Amino acid sequence: MDYGMKNRLSRVIKPDGRCMFMPLDHGYFLGPTSCLEKPGETVKPLLPYCDALFLTRGVLRSCIDPTLDKPIILRVSGGPSIVGEDLANEGITTSIEEIIRLNAAAVGVSIFVGAPYETQTILNLAELVNQCEDYGIPVMAVTAVGKETEKREARFLSLSCRIAAEMGAKVVKTYWCAKDFDKVVEGCPVPVVMAGGPKCDTEREVFDFVYDGLQKGAIGVNLGRNIWQSPFPAPMAKALYAVIHENAKPNEAEDMFNELKNKK
Ligand code: 5RP
Repeated sequence: MDYGMKNRLSRVIKPDGRCMFMPLDHGYFLGPTSCLEKPGETVKPLLPYCDALFLTRGVLRSCIDPTLDKPIILRVSGGPSIVGEDLANEGITTSIEEIIRLNAAAVGVSIFVGAPYETQTILNLAELVNQCEDYGIPVMAVTAVGKETEKREARFLSLSCRIAAEMGAKVVKTYWCAKDFDKVVEGCPVPVVMAGGPKCDTEREVFDFVYDGLQKGAIGVNLGRNIWQSPFPAPMAKALYAVIHENAKPNEAEDMFNELKNKK
């Protein structure tokens, strides 16, 4: 691997091999998502616990201080909205010149395996890899499921992750699943990062699944709503950071969260 690619990857994946990415990209198809109406304000108290921010160029330019020393993973796919016909009908939204101009440490693009637009989105990923490899910029593939949340099971996730890696993604973001998540990770020759999904009922559920996923080989998370939609976002982020980077067990993370939230 060339210096530039290695250097950028090392900015988003920390020396312990783990990562905690903070997604703020939801507005690209959901509009002003609850608690993310002002992304710059939402993220401020969470910054100490973010290894990188995942967002679009629009939110980056308008909401994030350019002097902030935090690696940026630029969301570069989009097109459809939540009220449109098909969430999978995505294209690449951001040119390679713009990716370089914005000093992105990496980029992220969704693929929708099993959807009518699967070929289009897989070719989006391949095309982005073609462009980014020339400049040493890592591509993170997001294995999206659109509105079909029942697709979050191991066989489907394995298929999506493997295809993403075969197309040249350097990191694959996918959903954790209760059964056979280890097989999903084993079948993917590049690092796997877990997405969060809609807010869980309890904090403990989040600590449990993140801990389990890490034991099964995932290297970290790209997890948003379960942090910034929490009534206590900073305690939640700090406790999750401890699970990811300090090997805290779920019960330790829960204790930490309760202690911090009661201090407020
Ligand atoms: C949206 C995304 C988000 O980055 C991803 O879903 C993670 O955020 P959350 O934990 O809120 O699900 O890719 O398409």
